[in-house]
Amino acid sequence: MWGGGSGCGKTSLARCIIGLVDINNGKITFNNTNIGMISQKRSIELCRKIQMVFQNPEATLNPQKTVEQLLTRPFALYNPVPKKERRKRVIELLESVKLGERYLSRFLHEISGGEKQRVGIARAFAANPELIICG
Ligand SMILES: Nc1ncnc2c1ncn2[C@@H]1O[C@H](COP(=O)(O)OP(=O)(O)OP(=O)(O)O)[C@@H](O)[C@H]1O
Ligand SMILES: [Mg+2]
Repeated sequence: MWGGGSGCGKTSLARCIIGLVDINNGKITFNNTNIGMISQKRSIELCRKIQMVFQNPEATLNPQKTVEQLLTRPFALYNPVPKKERRKRVIELLESVKLGERYLSRFLHEISGGEKQRVGIARAFAANPELIICG
């Protein structure tokens, strides 16, 4: 991975890699394929493969959704996890970040900053990606 001082462009580069912003110079390849286009122009499958854990979960997770809804969304978008198995899988994801079933019905304003960060991490893993960028 790359590093660098605050403001050197890590998050900006990550946003290009996941296709949140268009690049106007250079090239990005992933598995020998060009991915230098915004996410709307990418296949759903490519979007699934590259996930990001954002630095600021407060600005990137929807405060009107419960933790369960936030973690179920990637299944609906990318993964054919059958509906009746989704809750079980969400609980597994919560446990993998040391949160439990009791967090399912919580809203973001009901959990701590570190717990929000964990929800963001679990959400990235929910898509079963090949690459997770933390930035
Ligand atoms: N939306 C934006 N519009 C204009 N400038 C921006 C925008 N986002 C970031 N910048 C600027 O681009 C530069 C790189 O920002 P970026 O967020 O990529 O830094 P970073 O390396 O992730 O920093 P940190 O380690 O503090 O998270 C900074 O100078 C920042 O002020
Ligand atoms: Mg950053």
